[in-house]
Amino acid sequence: MTMATVPRGPWDVEHYQGLGLYFYLPEVSEVVPGTARVRVEGRGEMLMFGSYSYLGLIRHPAIDRAAQEAIAKYGTGTNGVRLLAGTLPLHRELEESIAAFKGTEAAIAFASGYMANISTISALLDRHDTVICDKLDHASIVDGCLLSGAKMVRFRHNDLGHLEERLAQANPERQRMVIVDGVYSMDGDIADLPGIRALCDRYGARLMVDEAHSLGVLGATGTGIEEHFGMGPEAVDIKMGTFSKSIPSVGGFVAGSAEMITALKHKARGFIYSAAIPPASAAASIAALQVIRDEPERVRALQEKFAYFRDRLAAAGFELLASRAAIAPIVCGADELATRLMMHCVENGIFVQAILPPVVPVGSSRLRATVTATHTIEEIDHGVEVLTEGARKLGII
Ligand SMILES: Cc1ncc(COP(=O)(O)O)c(C=O)c1O
Repeated sequence: MTMATVPRGPWDVEHYQGLGLYFYLPEVSEVVPGTARVRVEGRGEMLMFGSYSYLGLIRHPAIDRAAQEAIAKYGTGTNGVRLLAGTLPLHRELEESIAAFKGTEAAIAFASGYMANISTISALLDRHDTVICDKLDHASIVDGCLLSGAKMVRFRHNDLGHLEERLAQANPERQRMVIVDGVYSMDGDIADLPGIRALCDRYGARLMVDEAHSLGVLGATGTGIEEHFGMGPEAVDIKMGTFSKSIPSVGGFVAGSAEMITALKHKARGFIYSAAIPPASAAASIAALQVIRDEPERVRALQEKFAYFRDRLAAAGFELLASRAAIAPIVCGADELATRLMMHCVENGIFVQAILPPVVPVGSSRLRATVTATHTIEEIDHGVEVLTEGARKLGII
């Protein structure tokens, strides 16, 4: 009997290993508190330009302390799924905190952002409904739509004319839902919330926004996309986000009306059939929301440093798409160009990752470069210099 062949992933691992361009699953063994510096196994100290921790809150003393206290009080796990014996007072507190942060009646917490998306979308829609997604929506949104069985259609990225066509084509007798990302994770551009909301109102559609990359990033106090556009909480019906990016923990949430959240707590399969967030992670998320409230200067620092980073990259001649928030996509084109530029950076002490298809469209391979509130201007200058030198050598700019 012959063994079944192991299916290959989308990346040609041996090819990149052979070329010395394989920087996969590097192990970050230390985050130097309050800085953008990290230690990486086998490479020593590096400057981080690839983090999701946009506000630089990993190792924040109040957040670490809250997690330690939660372990001292509750231990490391829960008695199971939320629905049965797994709910702690911390889960209620976390849900109240996120509802207050997003200005909604209620919220529900899941074990991850991925779980929040697939569970919520599949609970709220069925096969008679239509769900309309931006072409660049995150994979967890796509998976949730597929799982729901609803008719799924997509519109060209941030193209409101195309969204309107899609809305007009959808069955008006059944539910229509539009789902977008607040900030697009690989492009760094922002959904046109005022325009999308107006179209949803015109066609009676519900609007869900994934704020994985906009929470802590957009708005003067970091509460997200509504604040960025000067709109109230009612601008988004279903507010989804994660506790794993600006908030240095793990978990996901949905915030909205009390009626919807009650329905999700009785129907969302990822809530009912999967483990509760562990105590340390729930406590860390609660503390991080408080830190964002108490230290709004971090949000301002992130926004100013990102604008500086972006301007410097643009002046050096990089193609940055329509990026406006936290993420600078340094588009290189061919996969190998992106991986070569990444290795040039890595060899010069800059931690940044190449993003290849299928995560981004073929021919648009890129570095996903980010800055955080904790970078210094000198560090940003240095990062830009290393990137510029590598990109010139490779003919990217
Ligand atoms: C836009 C977006 N939504 C959802 C997720 C999933 O969140 P989590 O990592 O908490 O599962 C991610 C994760 O990268 C994301 O970028």
